[in-house]
Amino acid sequence: MKFALLTLSAITAANAEYFNEIKVMEGHAKKMHVVNPLPHTYLMKEEIPENWNWDNVDGKSYLTKHLNQHIPHYCGSCWAHGAISALADRIKIARQGQGHDINLSIQWVLNCGSDKAGSCHGGYHTGVYELIQDFGYIPFDTCQPYLACSAESKEGFCEHIDTSCSAVNTCRTCSGFSDSGGDCVELDYFPNATVAEYGEIETHWTDTWEDVAHKIRAEIYARGPVACTINADPLRDYEGGIIDDDSASTSTNHIVSIVGYGKDEETGKDYWIIRNSWGEYWGDMGFAKVVAGKNMLGMEANVAWVTPGSYTVENVPCSEDGQICGGQAQTHGGKLVRTFHGESYVDPSVKFIAQKVAAAKAKLAARTHN
Ligand SMILES: *[C@@H]1O[C@H](CO)[C@@H](O)[C@H](O)[C@H]1NC(C)=O
Ligand SMILES: *[C@@H]1O[C@H](CO)[C@@H](O)[C@H](O)[C@H]1NC(C)=O
Repeated sequence: MKFALLTLSAITAANAEYFNEIKVMEGHAKKMHVVNPLPHTYLMKEEIPENWNWDNVDGKSYLTKHLNQHIPHYCGSCWAHGAISALADRIKIARQGQGHDINLSIQWVLNCGSDKAGSCHGGYHTGVYELIQDFGYIPFDTCQPYLACSAESKEGFCEHIDTSCSAVNTCRTCSGFSDSGGDCVELDYFPNATVAEYGEIETHWTDTWEDVAHKIRAEIYARGPVACTINADPLRDYEGGIIDDDSASTSTNHIVSIVGYGKDEETGKDYWIIRNSWGEYWGDMGFAKVVAGKNMLGMEANVAWVTPGSYTVENVPCSEDGQICGGQAQTHGGKLVRTFHGESYVDPSVKFIAQKVAAAKAKLAARTHN
């Protein structure tokens, strides 16, 4: 009996229609900000490996932690998870995996992104990047942990949560129990990360999906994971393998990140390795494979990329109660002890183009010698 009841609720759950979590907000005005050359303009097809997975580069993972958008209660914030997870991974790649991973605050995106980025009822990946660039930074998640709440959400405890965009909802500390005089206050200085550039992979009308797939592969290989829109319906009951179903719709309702790609030895199929934000119990420990080069599930049409600007590597300490907070420099007896500072990101085009110039010069030198 107990078993029958369980099965029934499982069926009802499976039939609940997937909520469309893609929503381009009215305030999302600037869809891209491009400065450096795009990877596909300096990396030809034969210059990128056939298999590349940021979760396993010579045995080392460059991915930050897995995420779950749906707990402590349901929230349609896939767009924030996919976008932020790709950005955090790219910071880890820039740091060559050194130090503690930098985890960025998705709750801050929900608190401050209602105009540009989205809410628990949908949003858009490039909106997140515009928000961070406009605001100036995104705090680390130890400033503001994920609560799965946005202003309009009535799920769980959300009605009791203030999600307005304020200083205390950007980075806070709580100094003690409220009945003994403690309070939660904002901090003036805190570790953060910035955005340098962002955009969507261009799909020119003369491009085949195979051409678009090359642009996506070059972007992933040169700079790191990307975020893409996707049709989530075939993902919900994914049981492993490469999703390749020509009858599946390409109309999208969900956002995930793509962390790598490859070619299946047995079937010869090219695939993407996607990372979802439904916990590690979903899919293959949170990942899934989808066939590449034919816009399967609509996932090659709206692929967003971002590059970090800088990320804090050294702070000036704040006190536990937040009353004394860092500032840009700490001095002791007139001597500078430490400064609050970040590491700047260098776009890989610099390295790749320098390599190409050096190779071309070497070739030319060899020719003039002959
Ligand atoms: C980021 O999250 C991971 C996984 O929970 C953790 O190991 C790491 O220490 C976190 N980074 C920081 C700076 O707290
Ligand atoms: C953000 O971090 C940088 C260093 O990475 C620091 O100079 C800046 O003051 C920080 N911003 C805030 C609001 O704390």
